[in-house]
Amino acid sequence: MAYCNFQHLLLLLFFISSPSFAQTSFRPKALLVSVTKDASTLQYLTQINQRTPLVPLNLVLDLGGQFLWVDCDQNYVSSTYRPARCRSAQCSLAGASGCGECYSPPRPGCNNNTCGLLPDNTVTHTATSGELAEDVVSVQSTNGFNPGRNATVSRFLFNCAPTFLLQGLASGVSGMAGLGRTKIALPSQFASAFSFHRKFAICLASSTSKGVVIFGDGPYVFLPNVDASQLLTFTPLIKNPVSTASAYSQGDPSSEYFIGVKSIRIDENLVPINTTLLSINKEGFGGTKISTVDPYTVLEASIFKAVTQAFINASAARNITRVSGVAPFEVCFSRENVFSTRLGWAVPTIELVLQNQNVIWRIFGANSIVDVSEDVLCLGIVNGGENPRTSIVIGGYQLENNLVQFDLATSRLGFSSLLFGSQTTCANFNFTSTA
Ligand SMILES: *[C@@H]1O[C@H](CO)[C@@H](O)[C@H](O)[C@H]1NC(C)=O
Ligand SMILES: *[C@@H]1O[C@H](CO)[C@@H](O)[C@H](O)[C@H]1NC(C)=O
Ligand SMILES: *[C@@H]1O[C@H](CO)[C@@H](O)[C@H](O)[C@H]1NC(C)=O
Ligand SMILES: *[C@@H]1O[C@H](CO)[C@@H](O)[C@H](O)[C@H]1NC(C)=O
Ligand SMILES: *[C@@H]1O[C@H](CO)[C@@H](O)[C@H](O)[C@H]1NC(C)=O
Ligand SMILES: *[C@@H]1O[C@H](CO)[C@@H](O)[C@H](O)[C@H]1NC(C)=O
Repeated sequence: MAYCNFQHLLLLLFFISSPSFAQTSFRPKALLVSVTKDASTLQYLTQINQRTPLVPLNLVLDLGGQFLWVDCDQNYVSSTYRPARCRSAQCSLAGASGCGECYSPPRPGCNNNTCGLLPDNTVTHTATSGELAEDVVSVQSTNGFNPGRNATVSRFLFNCAPTFLLQGLASGVSGMAGLGRTKIALPSQFASAFSFHRKFAICLASSTSKGVVIFGDGPYVFLPNVDASQLLTFTPLIKNPVSTASAYSQGDPSSEYFIGVKSIRIDENLVPINTTLLSINKEGFGGTKISTVDPYTVLEASIFKAVTQAFINASAARNITRVSGVAPFEVCFSRENVFSTRLGWAVPTIELVLQNQNVIWRIFGANSIVDVSEDVLCLGIVNGGENPRTSIVIGGYQLENNLVQFDLATSRLGFSSLLFGSQTTCANFNFTSTA
């Protein structure tokens, strides 16, 4: 009997201390947050509710980000804030080993005997230290068609950052929502809180429209009744063994999502590039990642040169004339002779060839061309210079109106290709609540 009681006690302790077993309101199969684009910074913003009483927070969506971090210095009022005590299960889940002290009056973000992490502003590449803590987080559930009831995680782990870390972020924002490959990023915490699949999908809308991030498995349905989870082509997600965060502990893998681009073609012609740059080396340099904090795709200098030359050449073959660049773009064209199609401007198609010749991420005019004025169209790709950390960064503009799913359990990425081809867009989620 004593043995039995001891087991119960252990089990009880486990339930109290493990954030994976945090008390939750009900068990949705998936969760939903909306995403908009800030016109001045081109950052993608999302909203979640946090604290007691609940406060809606605007956050910059950071696909590769390590965790949720918020400014705790300004207006953090909550009756359910709990700092993570040193050597607790929370600290070990977060990989936070230190033990911190704070020499001002206690408040959220400043407590003794707590472990800390290094929150990272991935827009400005600034990192600092911040207290690990838990508080209530609430977001809408979804059945994949509409939003439903709000679902609450009572002890959601996040990091408390000082106000200065917000510099460079869109106005009205109070932190960053990291969706990266860690145990405490939003996808993993939501999946473990509600026991759903460790999968999520992003569908960024263009300009002022509202896109979505859905945590959990499909269906992911867009009006008029297009289930984008049925349109996916899959490629393996690749681990970068070296952290790409601004400040990091040696030996930590990157929390960002990399895929294996093997070659690039333009209008089906192979672009001559140095393929060494396409793989990730021992120091973590090279490869291709997907980012929501880079507004446009960034290519290493030699890849940029080869790709833009081939694009200009293939455009010339379509009688499309090059004109002077318009910052930040070097390659621009006259709108004369450029036709409009269902997939955007009729320009050469850029193809990222993945694990084999049949798995291709195609970038059509809607994702490659930015309208900069009445008469000028620019190729929405920027030059990343020599020796950048990552050779190809697929940026926000190239992701818009494509549904991209990340499956953490099987380490695989699914991409829909431009949804215009399936008669829908990322702005077509039906936001009418059925709660
Ligand atoms: C932390 O402990 C130090 C030394 O005991 C004390 O001076 C300080 O006020 C405490 N800080 C907080 C936030 O409790
Ligand atoms: C549910 O969440 C939505 C979106 O975050 C929010 O607008 C709404 O006020 C919440 N409803 C309740 C009852 O908390
Ligand atoms: C290809 O890139 C690698 C990595 O930057 C470099 O070491 C090598 O010299 C390059 N090869 C050529 C032929 O330029
Ligand atoms: C330029 O385009 C022509 C015809 O479209 C093609 O034959 C040639 O290989 C291209 N050259 C480069 C450098 O892309
Ligand atoms: C390009 O322009 C030339 C001369 O005006 C014309 O002969 C040719 O058919 C055009 N090509 C395309 C692809 O429109
Ligand atoms: C959106 O969803 C609501 C609730 O299911 C439904 O009544 C409405 O008809 C849908 N809107 C469209 C345009 O289908």
